[in-house]
Amino acid sequence: MSSPQPAAAGPGPDQPAGAGLEATRDALEAAGYLADDSAALVSHLAQQLGKPVLVEGPAGVGKTELAKALSRATGRELIRLQCYEGLDEAKALYEWNYRKQLLRIQAEAGAGPEEDAAGDAVMEDIFGEEFLLTRPLLAAIASEAPVVLLIDEIDKTDQEFEAMLLEVLSDFQISIPELGVVEAASMPLVLLTSNNSRELTEALKRRCLYLWLDYPSVEREVEIVRLHVPDLDAELALRLVEVVGMVRELDLKKPPSIAESIDWARALLLLGADQIDSETFNRTMSIIVKHRTDLDLVAERVGMRLPAAGRGSSNGGGAA
Ligand SMILES: Nc1ncnc2c1ncn2[C@@H]1O[C@H](COP(=O)(O)OP(=O)(O)OP(=O)(O)O)[C@@H](O)[C@H]1O
Ligand SMILES: [Mg+2]
Repeated sequence: MSSPQPAAAGPGPDQPAGAGLEATRDALEAAGYLADDSAALVSHLAQQLGKPVLVEGPAGVGKTELAKALSRATGRELIRLQCYEGLDEAKALYEWNYRKQLLRIQAEAGAGPEEDAAGDAVMEDIFGEEFLLTRPLLAAIASEAPVVLLIDEIDKTDQEFEAMLLEVLSDFQISIPELGVVEAASMPLVLLTSNNSRELTEALKRRCLYLWLDYPSVEREVEIVRLHVPDLDAELALRLVEVVGMVRELDLKKPPSIAESIDWARALLLLGADQIDSETFNRTMSIIVKHRTDLDLVAERVGMRLPAAGRGSSNGGGAA
């Protein structure tokens, strides 16, 4: 089969190589996503090569948001398949609307005795598109306009599901026995995310570009926090990110992610805090630390080292 071409155009003849990459990064930024070099590059290549992207990394580092931002940046509709244990084809691809089919059969039966041919026509009829319930994968394949398809948390499904997905991702078509083959009308931009709860198959990885998203650098995280909470004072944002960094260095069950940094920034702004002293920290640390045992460790190793209330932030994190 001739597969549809990637929707994005390559760089023009007089465009320097790399200009498209910068354009992708700028478009993501305009859509509210600050991409680092590797995220910008992979997003750019995925559009040019028409390959799916597998995004892995710890919780809350912006895996899902990247897909949403790409949808906003490209103006493509976002179709999302949220994965969970036990997810099957009926919820991912399509299923027949049995209720509607039954009603149709009953309506025909009630219309009075007819010849057999009419019965056959009904059987053909009830396996038409009108009776099909479209699920995210089929919707993405069948869409006339190119979409962004987000297959979120693929590691929650089993290997059987992954195998089914492979077929869809390599052929960009879905065969429905009663209807025939539905071929992709346009090339979706596909992002799969995983939290690494299980190792994905080599076969899946081979078909995808790979992006590892980690906790960002201090500078980038400050930018991200200020993008989401623009009213927060710049110095306080920097201090917040530094303290979160100190917390991440501890051996915790669940280190705070970017999502927690943003929540904490919002809370500090609401509380009118102008510095992060030990009192403020102890009052609000449950926003960034969410395990009982982690709380004790963080209070002892970070809370105690912050300056006491009223002593200003200039004596920094090293004060006892
Ligand atoms: N580079 C970024 N630019 C702007 N916002 C970001 C960026 N990275 C993360 N965020 C913000 O951080 C929050 C968490 O991101 P997201 O939900 O995408 O994380 P995730 O990696 O999908 O987490 P999980 O594994 O728990 O699903 C979101 O509010 C998102 O807007
Ligand atoms: Mg997510």
